[in-house]
Amino acid sequence: MPEKPAPSESAPARRSAVRVLLRLWPYVRPVRGRFFTAGAVAIVASCLSLVIPLVLKWLVDGPVADRDPGGVWLGALYLLLLGIAEAALFGLRRWLVARPLSSVEARMREDLYGRLQRLPIAFHDRWASGQLLSRGTTDLMVIRMFLAFPLTFLVVNGVTILAGCALLLAQDLSLGLVLLLPVVPVVVLCSYFERRYGVVARRAQDQVGDLTTVVEESVLGIRIVKGFGRHRSQAEAFRRLAELLRSTELSKARLLATIWALITVLPELAIGAALVLGSVRVADGGLSAGTLVAFLSTALALRWPVDSIGFLLAMSQEAVTATERYCEVLDAEEERDPAAGTRPAGGPSGGLRFEGVSFRFPDAPDGTPPVLDGVDLHVRSGETLALVGATGSGKTTLTALVPRLHEASGGRILLDGEDIALMERERLRSLVSVAFEEPTLFSASVGENVLMGAGAAAGQPELDRALGIAQADGFVGRLPEGAGTQVGEQGLSLSGGQRQRLALARAVVGRPRFLVLDDPLSALDVHTEARVEAALREVLKETTALVVAHRPSTVMLADRVALLSEGRIAAVGTHQELLRSSAEYAWLMSGATAGEGSAETGDAGR
Ligand SMILES: Nc1ncnc2c1ncn2[C@@H]1O[C@H](COP(=O)(O)OP(=O)(O)OP(=O)(O)O)[C@@H](O)[C@H]1O
Ligand SMILES: [Mg+2]
Repeated sequence: MPEKPAPSESAPARRSAVRVLLRLWPYVRPVRGRFFTAGAVAIVASCLSLVIPLVLKWLVDGPVADRDPGGVWLGALYLLLLGIAEAALFGLRRWLVARPLSSVEARMREDLYGRLQRLPIAFHDRWASGQLLSRGTTDLMVIRMFLAFPLTFLVVNGVTILAGCALLLAQDLSLGLVLLLPVVPVVVLCSYFERRYGVVARRAQDQVGDLTTVVEESVLGIRIVKGFGRHRSQAEAFRRLAELLRSTELSKARLLATIWALITVLPELAIGAALVLGSVRVADGGLSAGTLVAFLSTALALRWPVDSIGFLLAMSQEAVTATERYCEVLDAEEERDPAAGTRPAGGPSGGLRFEGVSFRFPDAPDGTPPVLDGVDLHVRSGETLALVGATGSGKTTLTALVPRLHEASGGRILLDGEDIALMERERLRSLVSVAFEEPTLFSASVGENVLMGAGAAAGQPELDRALGIAQADGFVGRLPEGAGTQVGEQGLSLSGGQRQRLALARAVVGRPRFLVLDDPLSALDVHTEARVEAALREVLKETTALVVAHRPSTVMLADRVALLSEGRIAAVGTHQELLRSSAEYAWLMSGATAGEGSAETGDAGR
């Protein structure tokens, strides 16, 4: 597997946090009623805690000063009721937001998944799968937690702090000002910290993605890892990344600790100063004891809202970077369908036609020659054409252009005279069926895997016919539950040849007009291969087919053969003609040395 760079490493220019978070609005919008109600409930609950000092003031200056036990009990009852009301309201808030927010997360995840399905192969070539996985899991969790907790409490605590400050100033202006002294340095420090924290948080999230990639690759490639005794080097790679992530997390924690210390210490000092100043003034008689009690308990009630600002900002910053990472995938360019207005089908050039087709991989280094460079080829309507070429000559790449898994960089490809670049993808892909070298099966039953290649109307008869053509009916019948047996990642493992035959069945089940097979029989023994070929001949009669072939036996399926060499079609003809006229072809087919060095075209120079 080629080393895939994590495109996220080049951290994007930092945008305003609010602007990034506004991207979440479309998802929050449907639940905005509950969401804002919950916020309002939390604000009321939090402000209730500010009423407590007022009751205390009344209690100290009234019943306590007057030595009235009945009044003291009444005051205590008020305090109890306030406490209960506060707790009940916070409980209500939690109940209000829990369900809507999990639906927000689910919808965001759905959108991400849908997006991943529609993004072009070139995108998936470029992005490591772990980076995508971590966006769909941890990042979305961070976003949901942000909506549930830090977002609400930033607002709630902000309102509470403002209301508290107003109360403090109203109770005693000079003491209030002493207490508010640290506000300016705290705000400055917070904004400085927020920027630094954002950078580190983003780095940590990217590193989680890299770590996920390593885990995923070594689980998928567990046979290779074990077979080559590579567990130690894999473990080493994992350890390195984990260590990197740990040190990033530690620097996150250090930043958080610093800011937390400042945010806690500065107000604490101010409270101490206010306490001394207030006591002196109570002793002088300039201030009532009740006012001082109320003042200090208001200040203490504000401690949590102030202290929490630090980590609320940190969590918000993480949500900002998680949202950025999420949106990077949503903003990647999708496969686009051409504007309506296609050309009429049919015409003089039926079949599958390549005209001057060239292709180079978007991520190929500068200066490398294109993989395909002016391919001209015509597969006549109803004909089967074999495509032969040295390994690495671009056969798979050429076949992938037909269903537009990659977009040709030059020239055009016509299906029955219609340019595929102007066709809707869905229609194109219903016309063309493919089976790739790597037979991929999904975690589903055998039948479901095969019927994936046909429309919704296809059923048992189509399935039986396709399994018959691929000579898969025998072994499928012997599976524990026949065609209903689960295969793929979560189910029974099949042999390479069995998987290949199911992939072939999937390609032919929909009776496609155009069939593209990339070396479909490579994993079969000669006897099975002969039987598949005999059955396949019947299918090939009905379609226009391009079949990549490495072996003479597969070539025999075809009416004509084309030789791909150095990015273009070097020769076309029947097997016999090419054997006589092309040294490279004869060399590829027989393994015998072909006089001139013309045969060595494969990987060399590419
Ligand atoms: N995703 C990719 N990005 C960049 N280069 C690629 C990519 N896939 C293939 N290539 C390069 O394109 C060239 C053609 O590859 P291709 O898979 O088409 O060969 P092939 O003819 O099918 O070979 P084989 O007979 O071994 O299957 C190779 O040199 C390969 O290194
Ligand atoms: Mg190939």
